[in-house]
Amino acid sequence: MKYLAVLGRQPEISIAELEAQFSTGPADFVSPKNGLCIFGGPPTKSSPVDIERFGGILKFAISLEVTPIEYLMGVPEGKITIGVSDYSKGATRKTAEIEALKLKKMLVREGRSVRVVENKDAALSTATSLHNGLSGKNERKVELIKTDDGWYRVIGVQDIDAYSRRDQARPARDAKVGMLPPKLAQILINLCGPLPEGATVLDPFCGTGVVLQEALLMGYRAYGTDVSERMVEYAGRNLNWLLSSRSRSRLSSQGSLEQARRPSLCSESNQFQVAQGDATSFTWDQPIDAVACEGYLGRPMSQIPPEIKLKAEKQECQAIILGFLKNLAGQIRPGTPVVIAAPAWLRENGEYSRLNILDEIEDMGYNVNNKTREGLLYSREGQIVARDIIILRKK
Ligand SMILES: C[S@@+](CC[C@H](N)C(=O)[O-])C[C@H]1O[C@@H](n2cnc3c(N)ncnc32)[C@H](O)[C@@H]1O
Repeated sequence: MKYLAVLGRQPEISIAELEAQFSTGPADFVSPKNGLCIFGGPPTKSSPVDIERFGGILKFAISLEVTPIEYLMGVPEGKITIGVSDYSKGATRKTAEIEALKLKKMLVREGRSVRVVENKDAALSTATSLHNGLSGKNERKVELIKTDDGWYRVIGVQDIDAYSRRDQARPARDAKVGMLPPKLAQILINLCGPLPEGATVLDPFCGTGVVLQEALLMGYRAYGTDVSERMVEYAGRNLNWLLSSRSRSRLSSQGSLEQARRPSLCSESNQFQVAQGDATSFTWDQPIDAVACEGYLGRPMSQIPPEIKLKAEKQECQAIILGFLKNLAGQIRPGTPVVIAAPAWLRENGEYSRLNILDEIEDMGYNVNNKTREGLLYSREGQIVARDIIILRKK
């Protein structure tokens, strides 16, 4: 059986996320073209092919072992909804529609009642798939993907609504520390590689706790520290809110807001722990199985900074990030993954200026992942401060 992933807006980051979780070597990945990646797995308990855990993936699908019509004929009684996404060479809205109508005609001939989801493009968007129920949860609602490599059936669609809910419904938010998108928090955690259930994920710049929140939802123990007492209080409040069972179930499926519970610095069930501390000097409790964080990004900016201001920002951020990595190096076991989003600033030529710190980091006793050397930038169109994702492993 083969798996297929429809990659997110920044395919190089999505592929890095998949590779970190599934690859036994780069050969597992076949032609990441058209925003698609085919991979062989095999999934394990610590890295299941579960769309809810992958911030960089829009859809997961599995190869069809029979023809599309044979598969659809096996769908249980009742009305069938079908959607077709066509990624084969020369695909257009029309070719996708022709495939879907061909399938409908054959099914109707067999006495089945069928609805076809209308294509606006050769491939159905995530929102169209999600809002038409084609997320693989209902056997009678099927999205088929056509590629030059054969047909696939969608088994999961990114729940864009659930991400917005858990981003916007958190009781303690702070626009000044920046809003780490939950999707990116998942990516940072996944780039650490497969972790056993219950592993402790440390975020030493935890802010309002987005990484910690996603770590909890992925079944890990969350450990956060931050130099700001206020942020520690915010993170504690957000995590207690998340753990209140009703909001938890609502945030990963259908849902709305939930009242915050009283703030506390440690969850009753020991699923998370937060404390105030400067990352450049703090001594963390053990064990630490992985470190995933968005480091200090400097001041928020709405305009491209002049050279002199950029230099000062870079110096400040560099000192904090290097100080932190130096402090951490003596406290983690060999092989511990460390993934950190560092700042990179937009320049007039449209390029991003990154911190030049990788050689120094290597000298501190970390291996730097190759992807990191090439640069893994997470940015939105025109964003002044982007995130440069650095992937390390303690030697
Ligand atoms: C970009 S924010 C992280 C936001 C966070 N990802 C969230 O979910 O809200 C950076 C955080 O680093 C913290 N910080 C700055 N310098 C620090 C230091 N030396 N040690 C620990 N935390 C620090 C700030 O207080 C801020 O909360």
